[in-house]
Amino acid sequence: MQQIDLGQLGKYVDAVNDIQSKWMLVTSQKDGKVNTLTASWGGLGSLWRRKVAFIFIRPSRYTNEFLKVNNHFTLTFFNGHMQEMGYLGKTSGRDVPDKIEKAGLTTMMVDGEPTFKEGRLVLICRTLYVDPIEREKFLEKEIDDELNPDGDRSIIYIAEIEKAYEL
Ligand SMILES: Cc1cc2nc3c(=O)[nH]c(=O)nc-3n(C[C@H](O)[C@H](O)[C@H](O)COP(=O)(O)O)c2cc1C
Repeated sequence: MQQIDLGQLGKYVDAVNDIQSKWMLVTSQKDGKVNTLTASWGGLGSLWRRKVAFIFIRPSRYTNEFLKVNNHFTLTFFNGHMQEMGYLGKTSGRDVPDKIEKAGLTTMMVDGEPTFKEGRLVLICRTLYVDPIEREKFLEKEIDDELNPDGDRSIIYIAEIEKAYEL
């Protein structure tokens, strides 16, 4: 495992296409428990003189219970492992508490934060700003109609990328 200079992060991850097509796991811990979900919405960028990650998490996700109380989470990127991420993206830790083991992934701690042995890159993130998506703010309401028919609109988490490691 090797720490990455954040100035070189772009060499390790394509902030648009990797997230959109190869997905990532958003992972956090609370009360000694770790939960994760698969995410394909989000990005990496520059904000408030910081390097940031932003993710969009629906309130119904069990992982959101973790993100609400813990200001740290990780983003883990993989080579492949789409089947495992597919499973984690349709199984809730609320219903299947050992979903990570069932997916065949192995949790490991890096700087006290949870990630996965099978991952290739982890970003350690500290939440700075939380904001719920609201229907009134869509300029194109058909996006809301299409993607939020039951009103479970995502919460935006903007987080500072504190550290990155090649796993
Ligand atoms: C490819 C893919 C991308 C996903 N992207 C997101 C996302 O960006 N935000 C989100 O809230 N859920 C997303 N999901 C759904 C969650 O991963 C899924 O509901 C998961 O089972 C939630 O687990 P949890 O209840 O244990 O948190 C995605 C699912 C898949 C398969």
